[in-house]
Amino acid sequence: MATEKILVVGSSGQIGTELVAELRTIFGASNVIASDLREPFSHGSDGPFEVLDILDHNRFTEVVKKHGVTQVYLLAALLSASAEKDHHFAWKLNMESLYTVLDAAIDFKFSKVFWPSSIAVFGPTTPRDLTPQYTVMEPNTIYGITKQVGERLCEYYYNKFKVDVRSIRYPGLIGWKSAPGGGTTDYAVHIYHAALKEKYYNCFLSANTKLPMLYMPDALRATISLMDAPAEKVKIRGSYNVAGISFSPKEIAENIQQYVPDFKMAYADSDPRQAIADSWPRSINDSEARADWGWHHKYDLDAMTKDMLENLQEAVTK
Ligand code: NAD
Ligand code: SER
Repeated sequence: MATEKILVVGSSGQIGTELVAELRTIFGASNVIASDLREPFSHGSDGPFEVLDILDHNRFTEVVKKHGVTQVYLLAALLSASAEKDHHFAWKLNMESLYTVLDAAIDFKFSKVFWPSSIAVFGPTTPRDLTPQYTVMEPNTIYGITKQVGERLCEYYYNKFKVDVRSIRYPGLIGWKSAPGGGTTDYAVHIYHAALKEKYYNCFLSANTKLPMLYMPDALRATISLMDAPAEKVKIRGSYNVAGISFSPKEIAENIQQYVPDFKMAYADSDPRQAIADSWPRSINDSEARADWGWHHKYDLDAMTKDMLENLQEAVTK
């Protein structure tokens, strides 16, 4: 079988930074091409990098041809909070990028495409606890709307053009190696840095706002398992619910206080991200992902907290 050449678009962000390193371990550094709007300060791992604006169609085609790309992971997007600040551009970036990659998948016969969706596809009329795979979906954020349309588009390209596109509705992702980029769940990363540095965090979400989350090692494992699964096991071509942990700011703060006893938490009076969080599920039912391709999470809140604090502490003292 010919070697896969994997292009990661938006590789310098929260997920891309870690995913590129993981893919390079599996496929070999020279077979994973990282790309983003500009060169990152640190690549995190060695291997090819291309400056690429995914909205520049000709440049995308040039990079695909230059490297003989066979698979694309499309990570470039505006996340929920950033998207609300410029809803026209959010639509343009989130939708045009997906069209570009799906059309290229037909033209260049990509073996697979990965495109992440989000829990933001759900809205205020969705059942909020153990939200099922198939349910009412009326997102009221522009980000959620682009993700919902994106899911339909992926399924359409699979059914009509046989594009082998795979997708996960990521919950909020938490990791210590990279910073989050403009989402509503970002507090759950910031809180760990603040706990170690300032011993104080002013949370932009209210104390009892419970949201679905996933620790980055689990998110990477989910992504790679889904991409590795035999095509016939991937029965959902919109996007899979995937669950890990669900907690509120109060619960994560109490968990951190077990390891950093003098850590203090305060809550902001008002923040536009609260309304976004209030429209999302509190927890997710991911039984289809478990049944179809064997998904299961490993990290609970306490295991994640221990790992985050240990690694961040080590990074600070290095
Ligand atoms: P991020 O904002 O951290 O990273 C996105 C990257 O895309 C950035 O490095 C940015 O420079 C790049 N980018 C922006 N515009 C670009 C363009 N025109 N061309 C090329 N690159 C461009 O986002 P992330 O957290 O890594 O998320 C990646 C994907 O996963 C997104 O689709 C996001 O919606 C989805 N997702 C993320 C989370 C999460 O909690 N991080 C949860 C659900 C879904
Ligand atoms: N973590 C993401 C956000 O908050 C969810 O898609 O935007």
